[in-house]
Amino acid sequence: MRYMWEGRFKEKVDVDIIEFTKSINVDKKLAIYDIEGSIAHVKMLFKVGLITEEEKEKIIRGLENIKKEIKENKFKFLPSDEDIHTAIERRLIEIIGKIGEKLHTARSRNDQIVLDEKLFLRDEVIYLVKLIIDLQKRFLEKSEEYFDTVISAYTHLKQSQPILLSHYLLAYVEKLERDRERFMDTYKRINIFPLGVGACAGTSLPIDRAYTAKLLNFSEISRNSLDTVSDRDFLLEITFCCILTMIHLSSFSQDIIIWNMDEINFVKLPDKYCTGSSLMPHKKNPDVFELIRGKTAVCTGLLNGLLVLLKDLPLSYNRDIQEDKKILFEILKTVEATLKILIKILSEIKFNKEIIIEKISSFTLSVDIVEYLVKKGIPFREAHSIVGNIVKYCIEKNKTFFNLTLNEFKSFSPIFEKDILQILNFKNSVNSKISGGGTSSINVKKEIERWKKKLKKSWNLIINLEKEVSILKK
Ligand code: ARG
Repeated sequence: MRYMWEGRFKEKVDVDIIEFTKSINVDKKLAIYDIEGSIAHVKMLFKVGLITEEEKEKIIRGLENIKKEIKENKFKFLPSDEDIHTAIERRLIEIIGKIGEKLHTARSRNDQIVLDEKLFLRDEVIYLVKLIIDLQKRFLEKSEEYFDTVISAYTHLKQSQPILLSHYLLAYVEKLERDRERFMDTYKRINIFPLGVGACAGTSLPIDRAYTAKLLNFSEISRNSLDTVSDRDFLLEITFCCILTMIHLSSFSQDIIIWNMDEINFVKLPDKYCTGSSLMPHKKNPDVFELIRGKTAVCTGLLNGLLVLLKDLPLSYNRDIQEDKKILFEILKTVEATLKILIKILSEIKFNKEIIIEKISSFTLSVDIVEYLVKKGIPFREAHSIVGNIVKYCIEKNKTFFNLTLNEFKSFSPIFEKDILQILNFKNSVNSKISGGGTSSINVKKEIERWKKKLKKSWNLIINLEKEVSILKK
C-alpha cells in the first residue's frame, strides 16, 4: 500500500492526481515543528495509557533521529511523500517498525497542520519582532545623529512646515511600534492549542489536551473542533501584519527615492547598496527601494489571494486551505528580507544637511506668521488671509519672506512689529511647536529618550519569550 488512506480504494490513485494534491514541497518547511508536535503528542498518548512507556521511548527516539536527519539535510523525501506529516510517519515506521503506526492515534492531519503552522508562526513572530525592534533602533540612532537638522515637512509632496529631520525619522519608529504591537497581539491567537480535535469532531479516545498544550507552551486550548480545523484567522492576521509593515517600509522607500533624485539630492546612499545601469555609465540607482515598493505590491496581491481563498469555505476542513502556506511563506520571506536590508542601509545612510536646509522655502513659515498675528488678537481666518496676501505679493515681486522690510509687513497689517523678525527663522519655528506630538527640540529630545527605554524593554520581552517557547533555538 502506498498511501496510508488507500484502504478503501479499489484503484490506484492516478499519478497526476497525486502530483496535483501533494504539498510536500511547500510544507516540508514545517518539518521540525511537525516533529516537535509529535513528540509532545506521544508523551500525552503514554500519559493517558494509549501506548506503553517502551513504545513512547521508541517513537521519540525515532522522531529525534528524523529531526537530526532533517537538520543535517539528510532526510530523503520520496516521490510518494504526500505531505510533511506522512513523510515523517513513513520514515518513522522505516526506522522503528510497526510501533510507528501508533503515532497518529487520536490525531488527524487536519488538526496536526494547524499545530504545525502555529508552532512555526510563534517562532516567526519572535523573529520578525526582533527585526522590527532592530530597525526601530536604527531609525532612533539616525534620529539622534541628525538631531540638529531642519527639513521641510511635506504634504501633497509640497513644502509645508519646518520640522526636525529627527521628528521625521521618529515617525517611522512609531509606525514600526504599531507593527510590533500588532504582531504581538496576533501572537495571542496563534498561541491557542489546536491539537486533539481530530478531523472535525473530537475523539472517543481518552486524550489529555491540556497536557500536550502545556508541553508545547500553549496558554489556551481551542474550544470547538469545527472551528479549530477550519480557522485560519491567525494566518490571515499575521499576513496582514506583514503587509502593513511592508506598506510602512514602502512609504519610507518612496521618500528615499524622491530624496535621491538628482534635483533634490537630500540623501547619500552608499554605493554598495545601489545598482548601476547596463547602458548609462553614470547611473547609480536606488533599485532596492524601488523593489521594496514593488514587492509590497506583490505581497498585497498575495494577501488578497488568502482572503479570497477563505471566503467561500463551508465548515469544517476543506483542502483549499492547503494553499495558505504558499502565500504565507512567500510573504514572510519578503518581509524578512526587506527588514534585514533596511536595517543594513539605515545604519549607513547619510543626509545632505546643507542641501536640505538650503532648499526650505521661506513660505514654510507662513503658519508661524499666522500664529504670530493670532497671538496678537487677530482672528485666525483674517490672519490667514493677511498672510495669503503677503505670499501673493512676494510671488509677484519675486521676493521671499526674508527680504521683506518691516514696512512692507506693516502695509498688510499695522499689527506687525519688529518682533516678526524673530518669527522668520526655521529653528525658532521648529522650537515653537511645543504642543504634544509637535516637532520642537524639547519634544523630540524627550521622545528620543523615551524610545531608548522603550526599545530596551521590548527587546528584553521578546528575548524572554524566545527563551521560553522557541523551537528553532532549542
Ligand atoms: N496538507 C493539508 C493542509 O495543509 C493538511 C492535510 C489534510 N488533508 C486531508 N486530506 N484532510 O491543510
